[in-house]
Amino acid sequence: MDFELKTLTPARICAEKCDALIVLVAGEMNAGTDAVSKMVTLALKAGDFENKAGKLLSAYRPEGVAATRVLLAGAGDGSAKSIRTAVHAAMVALKNTNARRVLLSLCALPQAGQETARAAVLACADAAYLYSTTKSKPAEQKLRQVLVAVSSLAASRAGFEKGVGLASGLALAKEWANRPANHATPTMLAQAARDLGKLPGIKVEVLGPKEVAKLGMGSFMAVAQGSEEPLRFIVLRYDGGAKTEAPVVLIGKGITFDTGGISIKPAAEMDEMKYDMGGAASVLGTFRALAELQPALNVVGLIPACENMPDGRAIKPGDVVTSMSGQTIEILNTDAEGRLILCDALTYAARFKPRSVVDIATLTGACVIALGAVRSGLFSARDDLAQALSSAGEKSLDLCWRMPLDDEYAEGLKSNFADMGNVAGRAGGAITAAKFLQKFATELPWAHLDIAGTAWKSGVAKGSTGRPVPLLLQYLLDQVDVPAEAPPSAKPTARRAAKT
Ligand code: BES
Ligand code: MN
Ligand code: ZN
Repeated sequence: MDFELKTLTPARICAEKCDALIVLVAGEMNAGTDAVSKMVTLALKAGDFENKAGKLLSAYRPEGVAATRVLLAGAGDGSAKSIRTAVHAAMVALKNTNARRVLLSLCALPQAGQETARAAVLACADAAYLYSTTKSKPAEQKLRQVLVAVSSLAASRAGFEKGVGLASGLALAKEWANRPANHATPTMLAQAARDLGKLPGIKVEVLGPKEVAKLGMGSFMAVAQGSEEPLRFIVLRYDGGAKTEAPVVLIGKGITFDTGGISIKPAAEMDEMKYDMGGAASVLGTFRALAELQPALNVVGLIPACENMPDGRAIKPGDVVTSMSGQTIEILNTDAEGRLILCDALTYAARFKPRSVVDIATLTGACVIALGAVRSGLFSARDDLAQALSSAGEKSLDLCWRMPLDDEYAEGLKSNFADMGNVAGRAGGAITAAKFLQKFATELPWAHLDIAGTAWKSGVAKGSTGRPVPLLLQYLLDQVDVPAEAPPSAKPTARRAAKT
């Protein structure tokens, strides 16, 4: 989809030929003399239209307007959130029409600015997304062009561009998360990453089973050993900052399908475990957005990718494996596999002497119970990092909520046969999973996002949400002007980490 930003006067908006004109109406409307302003004023006065977010009034070929359809869309208080609701409602109303070219007017908004433009573009792209990869007769994407009209270019341009960059990252994340597991194997994910490597500023390296064995990633390899599909460890680099500048490392859980392994999951809704690489998809999407926006910072993306399958060679409950950190793990439940692949990626992350490490994972059903589909779970022992991620979530309307990490939560991870078990009972399951990961991040400025409830929707609207690409991108852009802390002086070695 093509987005364009323009300044248009009310008269020009009326005269612009397009299939649909969406007019966002918030707060008090200036009673202009053009046809659209008159329509708004009349409809508000008559009580046939309210500017509450999500309310719509439509007209077909009204006099004095060149657009085929006009949709007045209530945008409430004009906040980014209300604008998202308004644009979403208007786009849904246009879904079954033939509209190819849409004019989206933000001119009547009282405080139109960067946030407004970004929210409008993003909501538009989000609502227009269509999955088609594995359909024999894909539905046609009718909407081709969106012209965003504003009253001041200077006040909107940066937000508009951010929205366009973010939209392309979000679409990529959705695409890969939505693909069925047989169309999104670890090898295919690695190819998707390699394709990103063709974009400016991005380099990609892919490790296979041999290299991963050489690194000693015994925990990651243990999960992969039950599958015919070979594992991949994907390393992406976006170099936009100075060479000496410490990078942010993003780690995405890339379980391309989670059967549970020998601790097999029930059949109902198991198809949704194709989304268990939602964290990986969000890392790919974020890199796509970085390539579009070219911010001045360095970012590393790490994606351990494999399937979790039951098999003659699969790990069994009770098996003990040695992680790359040297710490041993008793695998009490093969369905707690996400933490087993992430822990080795966390150990690997230390080599980048990162300014921060954020892992993103569809990690626990318990997080879905705790926070539902509204907020992702945020875990970090670093207040500054937790604060930065929380506020990035608020700003980008991609919310998260900080959860505790008291050491008492780690009690249940004790094992008689290894340094730790991989599960700790049902109580506080999202937190105990985070405590497990924390054992591999003791020397890192680390945060963990559990996106099990937010990465996809179930039911009739089943599909990826692309979250938390907006949060991650906002967090990264917020880092551009923040001086990085000096990198930790000593690189934690495998042995040292094992003893702590
Ligand atoms: N991928 C799942 C988590 C999940 C479950 C995400 C439901 C979204 C919806 C993860 O690998 C898993 O199976 N976790 C187990 C952990 C348990 C065995 C301690 C879970 O949550 O049940
Ligand atoms: Mn699992
Ligand atoms: Zn999983």
